[in-house]
Amino acid sequence: MVKRMQTKVWHVDKNLDEHRTYPQIVEAARLIRQGEVVAFPTETVYGLGANAWSDQAVEKIFTAKGRPSDNPLIVHISDLSQLALVASEVPEQARRLMEVFWPGPLTLILPKQDQVAERVVAGLATVGVRMPDHPVARALIRAAGVPVAAPSANRSGRPSPTTAQHVLMDLDGRIAGVVDAGSAGVGVESTVLDVTVQPPMILRPGGITREQLQEVLGEVVVDPANEQKAERPRSPGMKYTHYAPRGEMWVVDGEPEPARARMLELLKSAAAAGLKTGVLATRETAAWWREQPDAEVVLACGSASDLPAAAQELYACLRRFDEEQVAYIVAQAYPRSGLGAAIMNRLEKAAGGRVICV
Ligand code: TXA
Ligand code: MG
Repeated sequence: MVKRMQTKVWHVDKNLDEHRTYPQIVEAARLIRQGEVVAFPTETVYGLGANAWSDQAVEKIFTAKGRPSDNPLIVHISDLSQLALVASEVPEQARRLMEVFWPGPLTLILPKQDQVAERVVAGLATVGVRMPDHPVARALIRAAGVPVAAPSANRSGRPSPTTAQHVLMDLDGRIAGVVDAGSAGVGVESTVLDVTVQPPMILRPGGITREQLQEVLGEVVVDPANEQKAERPRSPGMKYTHYAPRGEMWVVDGEPEPARARMLELLKSAAAAGLKTGVLATRETAAWWREQPDAEVVLACGSASDLPAAAQELYACLRRFDEEQVAYIVAQAYPRSGLGAAIMNRLEKAAGGRVICV
């Protein structure tokens, strides 16, 4: 049981001057320094931050989220001067990536320094480090004066939060506070890249695409664990469910015509079983889906030709299905190139591996 506390909400301007002093930031930073956990905006999703030097503080993140303790956290820094405190070694390739993509949605796996709390890295010899491209995040880390360990600020398994309201839905009463600066930007998390192996390996696709990384590094491979493309529905491994809405979700991938036919079939049998149905569609297809009698709640999530918009809207759509108490969701697939790799990775996980390729 988590002891309930009063969760403070501080409103700040997303475009604040990160080098000036703001009372809200000062208070939130003081709480972090004192070992409390505070949620804050980044350019990807909202994070739940704690002092990365303190096992006790970091423990509170795991408790608030209900996060499995073997899943390591990303350490966030505000300035390159903090890098050497966190990583014991920075390979040449990592330096080049930092020059191009930091601040930004790229997490680099590096050998860790001893003082990084054990709890942060879950016993590993490496640490994930990133410098967020959000003035509020950097102002907060700088004011805290310590690197900040932060996972996404959702209850474990739930869609990541892209607004402070999403954070409160999951964590109100369980954390010291949330810094509210409106919507996060990219909408999906940072790319996690392991630069301790050759060739460098993408452990989680995200805001910086494989194509962008390859322009800087040449060869970059993708962890096979992320390539879920299945011929048949995979058995839903609940242990690995992330980002999931409460309803059962299926992703249908393939050419538009057969995919649409299969989605209709699925909806029809779900509706016949008395389930409230939902469709995750796009701007182009939503109007058509709204005319289908078996599609009750139709949400437009970006567009196949506007993947940044799809990324931005994805988690809010998944939460919206919950608000509408949708029990059965079918989702249209997106192209898998560029940002589409991250979008499809999240969709497939949200569906617990229920992917149908037609
Ligand atoms: O955009 C983001 O990365 C957000 C914002 C808040 O910065 N954070 C985030 O954290 O998504 P989280 O905890 O939800 O995801 C961290 C991912 C996990 O998949 C974790 O396994 C991986 O990074 N990770 C962290 N440290 C690692 C390490 N040392 N080795 C391998 N994977 C690591
Ligand atoms: Mg997460």
